[in-house]
Amino acid sequence: MTDALERLVLPRYPRPEDVHPPLDSPEYRSTSLRHPKEPLIAVPQTLSELTGPLLGPGRIGELDHDLTRQHAEEPQGQRIIVYGKVLESGGRPVPDTLIEIWQANAGGRYRHDGDQHPSPLDPHFTGLGRTVTDSEGNYKFITIQPGAYPWGNHPNAWRPAHIHFSLFGTSFTQRLVTQMYFPGDPLFPFDPIFNSVRDPKARERMIASFDLETTVPDWALAYHWDIVLRGPDETPPDVD
Ligand SMILES: [Fe+2]
Repeated sequence: MTDALERLVLPRYPRPEDVHPPLDSPEYRSTSLRHPKEPLIAVPQTLSELTGPLLGPGRIGELDHDLTRQHAEEPQGQRIIVYGKVLESGGRPVPDTLIEIWQANAGGRYRHDGDQHPSPLDPHFTGLGRTVTDSEGNYKFITIQPGAYPWGNHPNAWRPAHIHFSLFGTSFTQRLVTQMYFPGDPLFPFDPIFNSVRDPKARERMIASFDLETTVPDWALAYHWDIVLRGPDETPPDVD
C-alpha cells in the first residue's frame, strides 16, 4: 500500500486507544518532555527483530526470581508470591520468555540515585528480579510487598504500590513494559499513570488478584497475575 506521495505504507497492528495510554498524557507531566513530536515512521523488520532474543538455558541464576534471597539476610516487608502465565491472543501460552521486574522496597524507596525521598534503603533488598516462563508460559517471583511512594508530579502525589514488569514475548517486536498493581489500593483514583489507561476494564487487567489458595501458611501471601501480550484482553503497556 502507498500513501498520497507514493511512499510505502506498511500495515501496522492497530493501537487500541483506550487500552494504550496516549504517549502525551498531560496529567502525567513528564510525558510532555519525551513523547514523539513527529509522526511515527514504520521501520521494516528484519530477522533479528522477528526471531530474537534467543536466551537459551543457563542465562538466569537460580535465585534471580527470588528477591528475598539475594543478600545475606532477608529484606524487611511482607513476603509475597507473584505468579501467573504469559499468554498470546487467544490464550496461547508463551514459553521461554524473559520477564524482568523492578520495584521499590517496603518503605517505597528504590535503590537508585534518582530516588532520594526520606525513607530508608534496605541493605537486604535490591528490588530487581528476572525469570523465564516454563513450557506452559508460567512464571513465579518471590518478593516483598512494595510501599507507595511520593513522586512530585502534582501536590501530594503518591504512586499506588506496584511492580514494574518488562517482557520480551517471542521476539523484540513483542516487548511489553508495564506495571502490576495490588487489589483495593486507595491511591488508584488519584494516580495519573494508572488512569492514563482510559478503559476501566483495561485498568483492571493491570491489577493482580489475591490468591488464598496459593498463599503459603505462616510464610507468604500470594497474588495471581496473567499477562496477555496481544488481542482483546491484552495487558496495557506503560505510558513510558
Ligand atoms: Fe515505580
